Amino acid sequence: MGFKNFVLLISVFAAACSSIVMASDPSPLQDFCVADVNNPVKVNGFVCKNPINVTAEDFFRSGLHIPRDTNNPVGSNVTAVNVANLPGLNTLGISMVRIDYGRMGINPPHTHPRATEILVVLEGTLLVGFVSSNQDGNRLFSKVLNRGDVFVFPEGLVHFQQNVGRRNAVAIAGLSSQNPGVVTIANTVFGSKPDIPTDIIAKAFQTEASIIAAIQAKF
Ligand SMILES: *[C@@H]1O[C@H](CO)[C@@H](O)[C@H](O)[C@H]1NC(C)=O
Ligand SMILES: *[C@@H]1O[C@H](CO)[C@@H](O)[C@H](O)[C@H]1NC(C)=O
Repeated sequence: MGFKNFVLLISVFAAACSSIVMASDPSPLQDFCVADVNNPVKVNGFVCKNPINVTAEDFFRSGLHIPRDTNNPVGSNVTAVNVANLPGLNTLGISMVRIDYGRMGINPPHTHPRATEILVVLEGTLLVGFVSSNQDGNRLFSKVLNRGDVFVFPEGLVHFQQNVGRRNAVAIAGLSSQNPGVVTIANTVFGSKPDIPTDIIAKAFQTEASIIAAIQAKF
């Protein structure tokens, strides 16, 4: 292979790598960029607090050992630790959640537009799953997890968990964004403000408008 071809090959490889890197949060260009959450300047993320004023507190948060109240319609409670409440996460491309599940509780079908999620069960038994995209035929990948079991939900795909054990369950998950975002399918489709026109959803779900209107009324 000539030198020119070699250079071409390397640049194609570099371009492929950089597009992979850019598929998630951008890489930091300094040790840290603690979020200055009150700064009026809007960038993709938050502007950096003056490094001189950064302290250990900016990288710290406590309380994730505390069980949360799951007495709500879905029977679960997600405690998120992300850039909004841990400013040191700014630009680092990572965050986490604690999820409490009451008996029969679910974390309803949702997606994270900006993050892959890796979940470990600390207590109890969960049925978990995700559905692949239309292109892949909307296949369901599902499994029952016990304490210590780990499952991964690929970025952007619809996923859920259900407590199928006899007791409460607890999981911790890591997410590959400082700000993963959550799109809960039911809330988005039936609870938008204002409503998506009922006839559109009725046709999409191949059912009567009256059934859709009844669901929309619940959100
Ligand atoms: C940051 O630290 C500098 C130097 O100690 C101080 O003068 C300044 O007031 C601090 N700024 C904030 C926002 O605390
Ligand atoms: C989650 O738990 C906290 C404290 O236990 C409670 O204040 C909050 O309302 C709960 N959230 C939901 C959605 O139930």
